[in-house]
Amino acid sequence: MEERNKTLGEFIIEKQEDFQYSSGELSRLINSIRLAAKVVNYKVNKAGLVDIVGAVGAQNIQGEDQQKLDVFANDTFIQTLINREIVCGIASEESDDFITIKGKDECHNNKYVVLMDPLDGSSNIDVNVSVGTIFSVFRRVTPIGTPVTIEDFLQPGVNQVAAGYVIYGTSTMLVYTTGRGVNGFTLNPAIGTFYLSHPNMQFPKDGNIYSINEGNYVHFPQGVKDYIKYCQLEEGDRPYTSRYIGSLVSDIHRNMIKGGIYIYPTSSKAPSGKLRLLYECNPMAFLAEQAGGKASDGFGRIMEIQPTELHQRVPFFCGSQNMVEKAEEFMENANNNL
Ligand code: AHG
Ligand code: MN
Ligand code: MN
Repeated sequence: MEERNKTLGEFIIEKQEDFQYSSGELSRLINSIRLAAKVVNYKVNKAGLVDIVGAVGAQNIQGEDQQKLDVFANDTFIQTLINREIVCGIASEESDDFITIKGKDECHNNKYVVLMDPLDGSSNIDVNVSVGTIFSVFRRVTPIGTPVTIEDFLQPGVNQVAAGYVIYGTSTMLVYTTGRGVNGFTLNPAIGTFYLSHPNMQFPKDGNIYSINEGNYVHFPQGVKDYIKYCQLEEGDRPYTSRYIGSLVSDIHRNMIKGGIYIYPTSSKAPSGKLRLLYECNPMAFLAEQAGGKASDGFGRIMEIQPTELHQRVPFFCGSQNMVEKAEEFMENANNNL
């Protein structure tokens, strides 16, 4: 009989032994994310049938219109993590400030904080295109037993203990790392179970896909313009193919499987870029590096940036190692020629 794939639940139990002196807290945390992902998946699947599509009429702290599914996904992840008393603090794209979780009798006894983008690619909801959830996990730096502070959240990406995303696509997948490679699990919707379908995911060293919103071309820095021209040049394995979904999770997921680079640069319209360091770029950077890829702000490693604000934005170059290095080369040359 053909051996069936391992379930995510089985995988988590097996991997818990990898962490010496682990109390199982991180495993329980991943389990909570697994549960919330299934709830959000159920709702995303019904978009178009139930009243969940469209804007709520409010904006988040970043001035973006909140969609009903943004709010639903935010509430679901936060509520699941609170109910299970598994983290001491949460920061989210949809919440202005971080949330302190007190637990029973205000003990603040948990050691992890989670930062998340509950629904990534919101503009794709209404048109039945893949969206996602992104999460990043840190060990708190303040003492256990006290309320969390902003310092617990403003940690460089190199301190992450886990990160991952859920992609609500043609099939729904949960992809995550705890610093020992990247594994992908596909949801069997009939029984509500995630199965290990993509063990040890690897970014191909090279690729032929570039993903960038080229509509902003005239506003891009010279190095990015030069790199785009390089991608389009008829030479060797070029021109590359242009693919841009407009949902970071989906664009990175495709590029991780096929080989490619994703770029959201600074522009004269968005001087710091658009993507948020703490709950979009850092977790994707951790996954990319764990899969043999690279993530940069155009000049240096994303995960070494010391954050100063919860909703801080950074330019983002992420993907196949050789492609990111090539793009960095163009950035540096353009800077030297200023
Ligand atoms: P979010 O839906 O969480 O606000 O994120 C959208 C992000 C990212 O997923 C995507 O790659 C990018 O915004 C698209 O931006 P443009 O429409 O400016 O290309
Ligand atoms: Mn996003
Ligand atoms: Mn979002």
